[in-house]
Amino acid sequence: MSTTAPPQVWTPSSWTALPAGQQPDWPDAGALADALSTLAAQPPLVFAGEARDLQSRLGQVAAGEAFLLQGGDCAETFAAFSADGIRDKLKVLLQMAVVLTYGAQLPVVKVGRIAGQFAKPRSAATETVDGLRLPVYRGDAVNDLQASLEHRTPDPGRLVRVYHQAAATLNLLRAFTRGGFADLRRVHAWNQEFVAASAQGQRYCVLADEISRSLQFLAACGVDVEHDPRFHTVDFWTSHEALLLGYEQALTRRDSLTGDWYDCSAHMLWVGERTRDPDGAHVHFLSGVGNPVGVKLGPTATVDEVEALAARLNPANEPGRLTLIARMGAPRVDEALPPLVRGVRDRGLAVVWSCDPMHGNTFTTDGGYKTRRFSDVLHELRVFFGVHHGEGTVPGGVHIELTGDDVTECLGGAQEIADLDLGQRYETACDPRLNNQQALELAFQLAEMLRA
Ligand code: PEP
Ligand code: CO
Repeated sequence: MSTTAPPQVWTPSSWTALPAGQQPDWPDAGALADALSTLAAQPPLVFAGEARDLQSRLGQVAAGEAFLLQGGDCAETFAAFSADGIRDKLKVLLQMAVVLTYGAQLPVVKVGRIAGQFAKPRSAATETVDGLRLPVYRGDAVNDLQASLEHRTPDPGRLVRVYHQAAATLNLLRAFTRGGFADLRRVHAWNQEFVAASAQGQRYCVLADEISRSLQFLAACGVDVEHDPRFHTVDFWTSHEALLLGYEQALTRRDSLTGDWYDCSAHMLWVGERTRDPDGAHVHFLSGVGNPVGVKLGPTATVDEVEALAARLNPANEPGRLTLIARMGAPRVDEALPPLVRGVRDRGLAVVWSCDPMHGNTFTTDGGYKTRRFSDVLHELRVFFGVHHGEGTVPGGVHIELTGDDVTECLGGAQEIADLDLGQRYETACDPRLNNQQALELAFQLAEMLRA
């Protein structure tokens, strides 16, 4: 923990007085200042009222009346930007949400890791590639994955490009979720061709048939399925890790309705495992914005740390404001999670507990691929549910890295992706993601865990 005292008064820039980890070494301060002032002049991406709506939905999650599904890429990129890619990611999240809603009879709060997830925390500032020491890749918001000094030099012009890509992504998401694509009567159409033939796809098809029949039944009973917007639109929120504080500051605006500050780069922001120092710049920044916020918690987190985080991020103890995202890893979750869950409960902290079964389960194969085992992901989730069941607390949600594509990045699942298969379609810019079938399989398993 740092020894610097937090500033007395919060402003969008007061974080600059505190140590901020994981910030790039921008070589040209003038160019950075230009990019940030360009961003500060742009319209907000989201509105304060939307962020407040999400917080109230997360309040229902905290009470066990809804379930949080948060997912998307580890890192969005400029290269993988396409309308089809956005549509397919939304499709898989909608499919998962339908499986969970129907299977567990709970409303699902859908939050994408999307439209802003472009910056990555790294364990080392440099890496050596072919004998050349290079700045590490920090996400497309900062530099280019290609291994040359030119590509890896942080370029602040990328921050502006991130904003525009996020705006275009969000625009399409708003159109998809409001304009008929997410209509429950299209539940079958979310099954992509390459999934439909698979075991998970067929299981989904059976469920989609049941939903279609239920809608017909409701219509026959006189419910106006045709015109009731609840059947035609979905609420979908965006989120990303609030890592590059200059970017977040530039998009922070005062809400004209309440006078409060909101980070209008996304509805929900989280602080990562590496930057969650309660006295550090990231937590300080998020303490002053009105959005719902999350904190990743790895296996070294203590109850006192969580209490310090809650004191800063949720001093009023409002349900839905703070989501704790546990990412312990399959081998350690048994031992690391129960004391935290118990401590948070005993100290009366109002939180949403979510499980990220991805980030504690990453390893590199002999072939050099960063991967995760589907079985480890499932194991961590099972323990998460078991712990909450045992402690009488609420297992509120999941936080998943996934894609709508047919990639081969994580091992196992019904397709039995093996070591030797990883090279076939390994496309992530950072961490390995569940593919469409694995994500759907996970949703079916989750629905059973939720029902139990
Ligand atoms: C991430 O969510 O991509 C990430 C880096 O997570 P964590 O901070 O938990 O390591
Ligand atoms: Co990741």
